[in-house]
Amino acid sequence: MTATLHVERLGIRFGGLVALEDVSFSVAPGSIHAVIGPNGAGKTTLINLITGLYRPTSGRMLLDGAPLSGLASHRIAARGVARSFQNTELFTELTARENVLAGLHRHLHYGLAETVLRLPRWRHAEREAAAQAEALLARVGLADQAEVAAGDLALGQQRRLELARALATGPRLLLLDEPAAGLRAAEAEDLVRVLRDLRDTLGLAILLVDHVMRVVMQVSDRITVLHHGRLLADDLPEAIRRNPQVIAAYLGGAPHAA
Ligand SMILES: Nc1ncnc2c1ncn2[C@@H]1O[C@H](COP(=O)(O)OP(=O)(O)OP(=O)(O)O)[C@@H](O)[C@H]1O
Ligand SMILES: [Mg+2]
Repeated sequence: MTATLHVERLGIRFGGLVALEDVSFSVAPGSIHAVIGPNGAGKTTLINLITGLYRPTSGRMLLDGAPLSGLASHRIAARGVARSFQNTELFTELTARENVLAGLHRHLHYGLAETVLRLPRWRHAEREAAAQAEALLARVGLADQAEVAAGDLALGQQRRLELARALATGPRLLLLDEPAAGLRAAEAEDLVRVLRDLRDTLGLAILLVDHVMRVVMQVSDRITVLHHGRLLADDLPEAIRRNPQVIAAYLGGAPHAA
């Protein structure tokens, strides 16, 4: 079976700093694959490489078997890779619905004339976008919050709104950078439910970076552990939980890994 994402001997340096070196792993189709590791391990850098924000110094990346390395960000996005950011990047003044529509509109294809003249194709596209926005909000449990300004939503709701916006692009691989950070227990449970639903009903592959082990252990099919930019372990959650090297790396560094 071809992996949705295959990363092979990936490395990147920033001047003298080796941020990632010789990292290999695969994300299976329709799976949730966590990448964990202490602060500065290279997790966000990995996401920045996969999305084409950074260029690798060595190694390669394949999406469904086809090379991603060297492609510009917009081409990688067009191939079906979407992400969320470590710090939420919503339009806080706009409503939840408008935030999702903003994600959808980058993918609607009609010209300026059609927009200005409100020709039938435009009206049809707008109706379709509105229906899609409702469906996406419902999928992440925000159907009742459509009219609320994003900035007025609770943190857990904002994180799920970010998910809805990322989904608007119709991805096949979703990269999430610390979606559970700072969430209360009930909010984390909501997130877990939504992530499982995306995997199980949409068949989406998800690469999840997070320090919140309760969430990681609940949703992950497989876990890759990075430490100082290198691969420390790559295994099933139960094996990772018992891995002495992983335990040592966390006791040695991460403040919120418990
Ligand atoms: N653009 C950059 N220029 C120079 N160094 C960078 C750059 N991006 C990341 N780094 C360095 O690469 C290393 C890995 O950083 P990264 O942000 O990937 O860690 P992380 O695993 O996401 O950590 P955290 O859990 O704190 O978010 C760090 O030493 C960081 O300072
Ligand atoms: Mg990070």
